[in-house]
Amino acid sequence: MTGAQLPIRLLAPDPAATRALGERLGKAAVAGDVIALSGPLGAGKTELARGIARGLGVVGPVSSPTFILVAEHEGRVPLFHLDGYRLAGPEDALGAGLLDERRAAGVTVVEWAERLSAALPVGRLEIRLDGSGDDPRTLVCRATDVRHALLLEALA
Ligand SMILES: Nc1ncnc2c1ncn2[C@@H]1O[C@H](COP(=O)(O)OP(=O)(O)O)[C@@H](O)[C@H]1O
Ligand SMILES: [Mg+2]
Repeated sequence: MTGAQLPIRLLAPDPAATRALGERLGKAAVAGDVIALSGPLGAGKTELARGIARGLGVVGPVSSPTFILVAEHEGRVPLFHLDGYRLAGPEDALGAGLLDERRAAGVTVVEWAERLSAALPVGRLEIRLDGSGDDPRTLVCRATDVRHALLLEALA
């Protein structure tokens, strides 16, 4: 691991800024990439996912897949948008079934990744969002492998 894997901290003053960061990620993402989002309700995980979707060329609306657990969107490559909100935790058996071999053909974005971590691939870009209300959001971003460190460079 080199310095590229050090976490970077970004500030997003408003929802448009959060979406713009996501759009840069979506443009740089390639099939097989995994972006794991954590942080409390209302932190902006879905706003970031919307930006990623836009960067991937997804046209339709993107919302939290809270009840369906996985939403698939057509883009430059497929976007698999997962939400671990309703899972009890990383040991929840449901979580294990959410990712399958199709993931390699698309980009996977996971909200509430902390509730799914046992089922997630070890190589990923982790983004922790914090902040609430109209406050600026902080994004702490960390890659766990060289591929995702390259993806992270899209934000640097
Ligand atoms: N800087 C910001 N970045 C993202 N969302 C923000 C920001 N400031 C205010 N908001 C608001 O916070 C809410 C974030 O909601 P959402 O993205 O659904 O959160 P989560 O998916 O983390 O629960 C939205 O209503 C959005 O308009
Ligand atoms: Mg959400």
